[in-house]
Amino acid sequence: MNIGIIGGGIIGLGIGWQLVRRGQDVTLFERDTIGEGASRAAAGMLAPYAEVGFEEVPLMEFSRKSLHLYPQLLDELSEQVEEAPVFDQCGTMMAGIDRDDTEYLKRLYDFRRELNLSVELLTGTEAREREPLLSPNVVSALWLPEDAQVDNRKLLHKMKEAFEGAGGVLKEHTAVRKVQVDGSMITGLRTGKEAFEFDNVVLAAGCWSQQIGGIPGPIRPPVRPVKGQIITLEKTDDCPLKGTVRSPRMYMVPKEDGTIRLGATSEEKGFDTRPTAGGQKELLEHGWEMVPSIFDLPFVEVMAGLRPASRDHRPVLGESDINGLYYATGHYRHGILMAPVTIYAMVEEILNEDGSELLNPFRPQRFNN
Ligand code: FAD
Ligand code: GLY
Repeated sequence: MNIGIIGGGIIGLGIGWQLVRRGQDVTLFERDTIGEGASRAAAGMLAPYAEVGFEEVPLMEFSRKSLHLYPQLLDELSEQVEEAPVFDQCGTMMAGIDRDDTEYLKRLYDFRRELNLSVELLTGTEAREREPLLSPNVVSALWLPEDAQVDNRKLLHKMKEAFEGAGGVLKEHTAVRKVQVDGSMITGLRTGKEAFEFDNVVLAAGCWSQQIGGIPGPIRPPVRPVKGQIITLEKTDDCPLKGTVRSPRMYMVPKEDGTIRLGATSEEKGFDTRPTAGGQKELLEHGWEMVPSIFDLPFVEVMAGLRPASRDHRPVLGESDINGLYYATGHYRHGILMAPVTIYAMVEEILNEDGSELLNPFRPQRFNN
């Protein structure tokens, strides 16, 4: 099959790479360069146990499946490239400093116990035994040993190498303007200058997915940008953070490359990606409140990314109402975590006549009136 992919974030690139591995002809169109969108901004947490919300059980099942598929995805990458990123099962320490936080953590604990998830409720002292850098003000914590993390930037870089190495065609600095449709059938797509014919097209343009022309308004994927500011600090000997620390107000993730990522704000500011004084102030204050020794760490980078959020904050996955046009977007806060299950299920959806059952809760048709 001849397949076109719109968007070179973790989702589009991952699907493209796996399709090429299965012998398909794939051309990937990226408006900028690979992995400059939300996938670059992300902290790389693979944390279904920390992040499951009270009404998100199907999403958590999908996310847990994805966590368990990460080692397979990274092994397949290692078959093709040197030094694939590691799957770091560092756990999550979610800490609280006052009664409000403690009550909140207890509710999270009870919910996780009901779901039979692996979780421990700790006192402040017990939490500091595991993570000595936690503030003396920490009075309670949840320990979630099965959460993990990955170096998402390295992952994108290595997937790009694997995609091209296996024969995938990459067109960077090439924005797709519209898809081309004949009746209810996809026939290809158009960039500014050229038209390309494809049997199938995958729309994986993150929070920009709604802007691609050629799709009737009511069936465009309903995604919007949700801005997240994030700070990268150099991890010096002053702050040898062991694993991911979260509070109800921030998270802090030590990375393989010797940095710490401190995030993130959540703002409805349209497509504005400018970091702001207020956003940075809040992140630093909330980070310092939990881990005071970040105080002397040098800045490496300050940035904001745009999370692709759908109306119900679940991903939008599967064949659209246009035959041969597939959506793979809307991963909101969990696109790095949900990448493996999304990639494998989307490949099945495209190559198997019966599609993928795993995608049923996330199909685009749920938004049809
Ligand atoms: P993107 O990475 O945004 O990729 C979309 C690509 O499409 C872009 O490269 C863009 O240039 C391209 N594009 C757009 N329009 C066109 C066009 N017309 N033609 C061609 N190309 C186009 N998730 C986690 O699981 N764990 C985390 O720890 C985590 N932390 C986060 C922290 C922050 C601050 C943010 C902002 C997000 C975080 N996320 C996290 C969420 C995660 O980053 C996203 O869900 C995920 O990256 C979405 O990937 P994507 O490929 O769909 O989108
Ligand atoms: N999942 C972390 C974030 O979106 O900020």
